[in-house]
Amino acid sequence: MIQIPGEIYLVGGAIRDRLLGRTEGDRDYVVVGSTPEAMLAAGFKQVGQEFPVFLHPETREEYALARTERKQGKGYHGFLCDFKPTVTLEEDLRRRDLTVNAIAEDANGRLIDPFNGLQDLKSRNLRHVSEAFVEDPLRVLRVARFQAELFEHQFRIAAETEELARQISASGELASLTAERVAMETMKALETSHPEQYFYTLATLHALEPLFPELAKSWQTAELTMLPGIRALKVAVELNLSAPQRWAALVHDQSQETILQLGGRLKLAKTFTHLSLKVKRFGPAITRVEHASAEEIASLLQQLDTFRNPKNLTQVVAVLAAIEARKTLSHYTPLTILEGALEAAMKVNNQQLIKQGLSGKALGEAIKDARIRAIQAILR
Ligand code: CTP
Repeated sequence: MIQIPGEIYLVGGAIRDRLLGRTEGDRDYVVVGSTPEAMLAAGFKQVGQEFPVFLHPETREEYALARTERKQGKGYHGFLCDFKPTVTLEEDLRRRDLTVNAIAEDANGRLIDPFNGLQDLKSRNLRHVSEAFVEDPLRVLRVARFQAELFEHQFRIAAETEELARQISASGELASLTAERVAMETMKALETSHPEQYFYTLATLHALEPLFPELAKSWQTAELTMLPGIRALKVAVELNLSAPQRWAALVHDQSQETILQLGGRLKLAKTFTHLSLKVKRFGPAITRVEHASAEEIASLLQQLDTFRNPKNLTQVVAVLAAIEARKTLSHYTPLTILEGALEAAMKVNNQQLIKQGLSGKALGEAIKDARIRAIQAILR
């Protein structure tokens, strides 16, 4: 058994989520009254350079030394950290973003709640812990993400917290956030049950323009709730689509150039941009597939690379279903037709054609012809 040097408290999202009856995510612990040396001597591994966080050698859970933070320079990194063993639990909780994230639990299961997080959990308030909220621009995104995550539990952002977040937006500090940070919060928001709330909140907090200038520009003339991208995103959630699919739904009516620009600037994983571009490029042909010939269908399946990777088909077509506001995939005609065509075309026996002595270009042509014939047969 590892002996942890200091008092241990469970903090943050794990407590918030448990009290809300949600599935708990990662468990984060705070250690009061310890030092990096004592943690290392107890067998913990240090991770993170900016402030001391340690991994438990057995559970791999994160233990951070209690610390205070003070803003010194500009930007997300301009913090002065103090993690002396005299830093108290309350001081550590005071530096946190929201009261619902600033509740601690000791080893006996007793809750410590100096900032009334429990009351805010009950009254569904996302409220800042202290005025120091403004010192970290990432919090504007976090608040928007929590609004998306907790919207189904009827949470609302407290008016004073909105005011502080707007102060951050007006200060220009959002520009100091790295692309990775913005992308990470956005990805987490996309996976929530109400990702549209993330974008609505950013707009309310005057953060849409600085964070997503590409989207803000094309969105500025319309009511956000009415935007085709937002509508498609909401249906994508109902269809239980993945984060890249939700993103593709959101940006489906943006230009190819904007999609590339967004993906590049935010350094999104390639699947996000690739899928969005596929939806744009093949969308018109797929949605009209019931009028297509067997040859056109075979070519579409080939271009979507479905013969090597059949999952590509539903990945793209499901986004189109969301764009067309279909609440279920089961009777979506383009999907039914293309799935049937793919199944038929996949039955073509390449080995048999090889046995017939075909190779190279001739083999390729023969496979293509056989696939067209197979698709033709099911279209009749
Ligand atoms: N925290 C903060 N300000 C930040 C980041 C984190 O105050 N910019 C604090 C919050 O108390 C938060 C805790 O650190 O609860 C852990 O952060 P993190 O794991 O990023 O978020 P969680 O709140 O645990 O939520 P989730 O795991 O759902 O992202």
